[in-house]
Amino acid sequence: MSGNFPPPSGDFSFTSEYQGSTNDEDTESLTESIIGVQEENGRTYHSYQAGSYPYPNDEREKERLELQYECISVLFGGRLFFAPWSRQHYPGTILDIGTGTGRWAIEMGDKFPLSTIRATDLSPIQTTHVPPNVNFCIEDGSLPWHPSLFYDYVHTRMTVGCWSDFCTDVCTQAYAQLNPGGWFESQELDPWVYCDDGTMPDSFQPLVWVQEMSEIADEAQRPVLMAQTARQSYEQAGFQNVRELAFRIPLNDWGGGGNLTRLERRVGRMWEENMLEGLSAMSLGLYTRYRNMNQKRVEGRLLHVRRGLRDKNVHAYMRIVVVLGQKPTSPDRGVTGPSLQMT
Ligand SMILES: C[S@@+](CC[C@H](N)C(=O)[O-])C[C@H]1O[C@@H](n2cnc3c(N)ncnc32)[C@H](O)[C@@H]1O
Repeated sequence: MSGNFPPPSGDFSFTSEYQGSTNDEDTESLTESIIGVQEENGRTYHSYQAGSYPYPNDEREKERLELQYECISVLFGGRLFFAPWSRQHYPGTILDIGTGTGRWAIEMGDKFPLSTIRATDLSPIQTTHVPPNVNFCIEDGSLPWHPSLFYDYVHTRMTVGCWSDFCTDVCTQAYAQLNPGGWFESQELDPWVYCDDGTMPDSFQPLVWVQEMSEIADEAQRPVLMAQTARQSYEQAGFQNVRELAFRIPLNDWGGGGNLTRLERRVGRMWEENMLEGLSAMSLGLYTRYRNMNQKRVEGRLLHVRRGLRDKNVHAYMRIVVVLGQKPTSPDRGVTGPSLQMT
């Protein structure tokens, strides 16, 4: 599968800032409403579609996203994807929605130099060092997608809190804009706190915090438990060959106790750092906007959660859920192309 799509276009697309070329027809000037920021409680938030994504976009958050990316890379054993791509059979056109710092898109661009990658986000927080086959665009993935852009591979990673309804906002559009035989893959956090060995009391504060966050996020119409139903969303959108993989992501290294592998202990140490660093960012917008709490009160509330995150006697974990599905080659013939082999 190969081939390129036309240059990115659409109301808020741009590529020139990053790559030194302009296309007047397709490129809109980077107005304040797009590249500006909204400040709140010492953090900054995206300006385009302001208020829709409740987490910050400042340097501190960018650094945290890098740490989170490293953690997931370790968890996946360095794999960027689980769809059946190879150097011989690469996707010609790729869309990465909610690309964040753009790290995944850039690594895909390096891995598949003949692919063309379009990576979108509400915030222009991507790095300026980009392979020539990667374009970053400011775009809301939940709005109607450009009708003439088709892809061989659509990807999301860690887009918790981005969608009011993952199925209608993203899966249905991915299905419509994929070429026949193309793949859609989502690598998403299920932030629910699980424990299999009875070491977690109901009052465990990270669990209580996730319950609160989930309730508020539902009110904000940005549900955070989307990974739990991602597979159903794929099936509902019409994808075939749908598979789901789940990875444990421990809250810390459990002090070496429990049944963690060496790799999971390493991931646990990284995830603990990620959660401790990101806890304010993940909480402030939702608590202050929807529970009328001020920053001081939020930070006080989070003290107990931090203590829980560090507690090595509780063998708790979140999950990363990977779901992938294929668009049939034709309504009658079902799916073809490289088959999926999960190891
Ligand atoms: C947690 S970050 C994940 C970034 C990246 N995928 C990764 O794995 O590092 C989620 C990103 O989605 C973006 N986002 C939120 N809502 C969006 C939307 N409706 N359309 C496009 N991007 C969105 C946010 O601005 C943020 O950069």
